[in-house]
Amino acid sequence: MKIKNIVLGVTGGIAAYKAAELTSRLKKEGYDVRCVMTKSAQQFLSPLTLQTLSNHPVITDLFAAPTTQWNVEHIALAKWADVFIIAPATANIIGKMAAGIGDDFLSTCVMATKAPIVLVPAMNEAMYEHQAVVDNIALLKKRGCFFIEPAVGKLACGDSGKGRMEEPNVIVDYLKRLGRYDLTGKKILITAGPTREALDPVRFLTNHSSGRMGYALAEAAYERGALVTLISGPVNLAAPTGVDVIKVDSALAMYEAVLARFDEQDAVIKAAAVADYRPETVSAEKIKKKDGDWLVKLVRNPDILAELGGRKTRQILVGFAAETNDVEANARKKLVAKNLDLICANDITEAEAGFGTETNRLTIYRKDQSKISLPLMSKKQAADLILDQIGQLWQNE
Ligand SMILES: Cc1cc2nc3c(=O)[nH]c(=O)nc-3n(C[C@H](O)[C@H](O)[C@H](O)COP(=O)(O)O)c2cc1C
Repeated sequence: MKIKNIVLGVTGGIAAYKAAELTSRLKKEGYDVRCVMTKSAQQFLSPLTLQTLSNHPVITDLFAAPTTQWNVEHIALAKWADVFIIAPATANIIGKMAAGIGDDFLSTCVMATKAPIVLVPAMNEAMYEHQAVVDNIALLKKRGCFFIEPAVGKLACGDSGKGRMEEPNVIVDYLKRLGRYDLTGKKILITAGPTREALDPVRFLTNHSSGRMGYALAEAAYERGALVTLISGPVNLAAPTGVDVIKVDSALAMYEAVLARFDEQDAVIKAAAVADYRPETVSAEKIKKKDGDWLVKLVRNPDILAELGGRKTRQILVGFAAETNDVEANARKKLVAKNLDLICANDITEAEAGFGTETNRLTIYRKDQSKISLPLMSKKQAADLILDQIGQLWQNE
């Protein structure tokens, strides 16, 4: 999706002054920006400032004469928007949007838009943590609103904490990425992280997967408009914004969670490092240390990817191959054996290209035998390139 027209809603918080810099930066990037201010916002910033920077009259009143040639201005503006952003977004506007209240121009106009909505909250930390705000944000995310989370730092009220409105340059970067809103409405299921195979209530077998690649994929897919389900093994990562996260523990639990949701998906990306084997028996009590060795018999876990490959109808199926040797041969074999559309392979013995790192060096093998070798890059960049490949397969359909 090409973003040209941006409606910027400004609500009543100290951070309203940042809306001036945001408008200026957006204009410099070539966007057409029309600003709407709430009554409270005008206590913090003059409409004249935004009018001058945006080069358009600022709309402040639902019932005033239209500032444009449009008759019913709140509907026309809602349609004009390619993206609707509210920055700063007060607890009040978030609450009103969650409840479906339209009692001024901004709240009515944002309800009427079909454009992607980006909210940039700014408020005191205690307000941000209030259960009502937490619940309202969760509800709006579920409805598809995008959030640029507040940063942590010194707040205008003197407190420190999470609540500072994100900086205008970060918001502009976010919108540029959102401009590639090419996966709208596609249902993508992503798996991430390791699994844990229990031996007893305190011990388990696992692997070094950090989950970063899967989480980066989930974040990138969401930012491009996909409806993302992330099935995650135990990892130390925050849930990505807007993504439906399902936490699982063992390979069997992951198998069930993936299979239960497979039919409704348009694509599945299996980035999890699922254990191939599990202990044959799991002791209900902690196994006591004894003299001598402890021999554990491992049995095969189901092969989730192969199962999906056998069941797939219209779904694009993407696998990962983390290899220590014969990377290309092993990846190509897996691509065919599991009926995949793409496989992303990496040599995990290479520095900065495997488990636990922020970066990856992947080669993507396609079903048609062709391949693309990517240089070392962040997992987020790699995620976007993998999604590009999936997008291309949909375009060629
Ligand atoms: C000095 C001052 C600063 C404020 N800062 C914020 C803020 O940062 N975030 C917020 O949610 N509300 C803040 N408020 C409260 C809002 O202005 C108030 O809830 C108002 O009703 C919001 O209206 P609006 O959402 O229509 O703009 C502040 C109020 C004052 C007096």
